Amino acid sequence: MKFFIDTANLDEIKKAASFGFLDGVTTNPSLMAREGVSHQDDHIKAICALTAGPVSAEVLATDTPAMIEEGRHLAGLAPNVAVKLPLTMEGLAATSVLAEDGLKVNLTLVFSPLQALLAAKAGAAFVSPFVGRLDDVGHDGLELVEQIMTIYGNYGFETEVIVASVRSPQHVLKSALLGADIATIPFNIIRQLAGHPLTDKGVAAFLADHAQAAQAVK
Ligand code: E4P
Repeated sequence: MKFFIDTANLDEIKKAASFGFLDGVTTNPSLMAREGVSHQDDHIKAICALTAGPVSAEVLATDTPAMIEEGRHLAGLAPNVAVKLPLTMEGLAATSVLAEDGLKVNLTLVFSPLQALLAAKAGAAFVSPFVGRLDDVGHDGLELVEQIMTIYGNYGFETEVIVASVRSPQHVLKSALLGADIATIPFNIIRQLAGHPLTDKGVAAFLADHAQAAQAVK
């Protein structure tokens, strides 16, 4: 399973890369705005320099010709840019053109299995079901992931499933059990994945025992 970080914060990306298991980055206009970025080109280039993995850069255009133009522009910023488009009819039409160009497209804001089926048929490299936002409105976000994995397995689609809108370690665990290809995870949750109170307690006990033994031989 690949781990992407869901952020546009350069320090978080650097820190996550230093852990040794960062496979890519996803951004969106809200994450860019959170970093005070209004013109994303230079920021996308800076992120792409921090990882060899795919960096999803989202278009702001909403009609197909403008999405294609903006997508081609974003893809020209660095070789590891994946063009992120919303899963609308316009986004699907743009995806098939960009995929024909040989570009990687991440179809985002996916909330139904049929949207994900269309994404695969349009030739998207990635599809991003938003589990947290579905949970927020009383649905089961992980059930969507399960349905997408089943459909893609039935037909051998190669589109990779990025579990997005991750809110907890449980989302990551259950996505891994379902065989999702990728989870894109906010930095605070990456930290939670590694932490366990019994690990901290164990380290403290080992150090205390060692200090006691060292004291005894003095
Ligand atoms: C994914 O690519 C999106 O950037 C992200 O996961 C959205 O998550 P949110 O629902 O926490 O905004």
